[in-house]
Amino acid sequence: MEPEADYKDSSLVLIKQGAEARVFESSFVGRRSVIKERFSKKYRHPILDSKLALKRLNAEARCMTKARRLGVRTPVLYAVDPVLHTLTFEYVDGPSVKDVFLEFGSLGVNEERMGNIASQIGDAIGKLHDGGLVHGDLTTSNMLLKNDTNQLVLIDFGLSFTSTLPEDKAVDLYVLERAILSMHSSCGNVMDQILAAYRKSPKQWSSTLNKLAQVRQRGRKRTMVG
Ligand SMILES: Nc1ncnc2c1ncn2[C@@H]1O[C@H](COP(=O)(O)OP(=O)(O)OP(=O)(O)O)[C@@H](O)[C@H]1O
Ligand SMILES: [Mg+2]
Repeated sequence: MEPEADYKDSSLVLIKQGAEARVFESSFVGRRSVIKERFSKKYRHPILDSKLALKRLNAEARCMTKARRLGVRTPVLYAVDPVLHTLTFEYVDGPSVKDVFLEFGSLGVNEERMGNIASQIGDAIGKLHDGGLVHGDLTTSNMLLKNDTNQLVLIDFGLSFTSTLPEDKAVDLYVLERAILSMHSSCGNVMDQILAAYRKSPKQWSSTLNKLAQVRQRGRKRTMVG
């Protein structure tokens, strides 16, 4: 299905073409917005595929709304279209944390700015986990920084789920740690700064961080075997 045909009245600019979703910039009742469309996987049965896409669409909308209720900044959700499999969000004007950290890598680290971003990240994840929400895809591309206020906004709740298990929360942190180690090695101890801020909020922070140590160990063993 050609998405352009479905939105012929509004201008659409493709921002990202992923394996499971396309993201467009558009406008929604005069407001700058982003449309995320989950498209079909050719190898899946069409009815099953449509059911799965709808389930993920609803889960993403629900988890994002829950995150906002927990006091974590996310884009405002403007609309859910269960027929076209799209979510429409407020457009967040500003770079991703990935872009900012990569710039630190090439131009040198601004310690004050990095500290501020790290503490916002740790604080946001702490709030999610304290509320029993696991993001599921914590990478620096799924974190945006508003241009005007420098506030952190979390996006991409497509793999989020609710859980109170320290193990699930530890894996959430581990995914971020791996992403930072592999992509932002020049940002030094940024993960330690994130964890320092994280420790301040969740009730279960110590059992989660104990689990994180175990998850790291399993990861190391796997690397050695592989
Ligand atoms: N509300 C928004 N405002 C501005 N840019 C956005 C917004 N939402 C997404 N983007 C941009 O689009 C990119 C892709 O969005 P997103 O991370 O939600 O999709 P994805 O990674 O393809 O999804 P998935 O992992 O669920 O398949 C983001 O990295 C970001 O650059
Ligand atoms: Mg993403």
